[in-house]
Amino acid sequence: MQEIRVGLLGFGTIGAGVVRVFQHNAPVMSDRLGAVLKLARIADLDITTDRGVEVGPGVLTTDANQVLTAPDIDVVIELIGGYEPARSFVLKAIEHGKHVVTANKALLAKYGEEILAAASKKGVEVMFEASVGGGIPVLSAIKENLCVNRFRSIFGILNGTCNYILTRMTDEGADFAAVLKDAQQKGYAEADPTFDIEGVDTVHKLAILIALCYGTQVDQEQIYLEGISQISAVDIQFAHQFGYKIKLLAIGKEVDGEIEARVHPTMIPQNAPLADVDGVFNAVRLVGDFVGPVMLYGQGAGMDATASAVMGDVMAIARNLLKNAVGRIPAMGYQESAINRRPIRAMNDIVSRYYLRFNTVDRPGVVAQIARVLGNFRIGISSMMQPEGCDADTVAIVIMTHDAQEADIRSALAEIDQLAVVHKPSHFIRIENSIE
Ligand code: HSE
Repeated sequence: MQEIRVGLLGFGTIGAGVVRVFQHNAPVMSDRLGAVLKLARIADLDITTDRGVEVGPGVLTTDANQVLTAPDIDVVIELIGGYEPARSFVLKAIEHGKHVVTANKALLAKYGEEILAAASKKGVEVMFEASVGGGIPVLSAIKENLCVNRFRSIFGILNGTCNYILTRMTDEGADFAAVLKDAQQKGYAEADPTFDIEGVDTVHKLAILIALCYGTQVDQEQIYLEGISQISAVDIQFAHQFGYKIKLLAIGKEVDGEIEARVHPTMIPQNAPLADVDGVFNAVRLVGDFVGPVMLYGQGAGMDATASAVMGDVMAIARNLLKNAVGRIPAMGYQESAINRRPIRAMNDIVSRYYLRFNTVDRPGVVAQIARVLGNFRIGISSMMQPEGCDADTVAIVIMTHDAQEADIRSALAEIDQLAVVHKPSHFIRIENSIE
């Protein structure tokens, strides 16, 4: 049987998962491929720590060049993460004619254009299914099965760490810091967990989804970002009372020829399927003009699920190699000549419903003052709640609005924060009702 040889860069959690796939499922892979995949080499600076998996003699090396430039390696898996040396290594592998599989969303979001241009010039494949949604095959679904559709919207729960934290805060009233520590211990969080909780990891993933769905390059700086560190238990409780859950959502939409690209905590109806996506699970809801809504759900992080996606890409490349069909499906799903730069909608122009929370003194006329400002900015109130204050001085006023423009909300809140009866800052969370 023909042999296709694989080199692995980075022997961390996911790397160990890749080794486990080779150990446990080699027969399944060769039965499906009609050839043998061999894990020929693993390069990491640390080759002594026990990863709980067995590696054959001579496979481990501290010299990355034994993967990047070795003539006997066909496919390089990059699982180092971060920007450097991952970028240089990937470019070097391409230069030496290797096909590349990576799970590195940060690298793709920042250097994807450069890497894909180099791969195209060299005639090699770069695949990155594991970079978005862990084990969920969302990128191949967009590029292959759904490829006749124009996408109206993307809604994603794309960070397992954030979803795990929000779920435990919602279900147990758990403390943010303790849950984060637990997520780190379970291996879900990035090396720098601020990438998770401040939404940067979700931005990287949304940039990739938008590129594939809309055939447009979007710089990560163009994606509006708010993480979950400002979400408090009180907002989670109020959301529940109004029939909503708070999730960190990645949102991409095509609106009047512009692309909305944003990541922020979002209230979604408790009966929306995305509201049931709990713990480390991820989900992506896409709406295509022909297929309608499609939701993909699965484990968004973790050793085995992510290794499944990585090795799925290796199998896809191996199949193309065996059939002389390298490049059959373009890396971004669009022909290079068709990829352009679409305008990204300014955040001030988006229209949404909003949850507003004010801390005020408990005195007659306060609600009227707030309502007057909202009215002046054309913001309609759909619902309101004012639980009895826990102390004599402060009371929470919670307002759900009708559709309003973001610029009006921000201006109104700035004005309300100037009222003598309001303890600033006031808080707002966007509400998404269109995903039921
Ligand atoms: N830190 C990421 C998460 C890992 O928590 O989802 C998968 O990309």
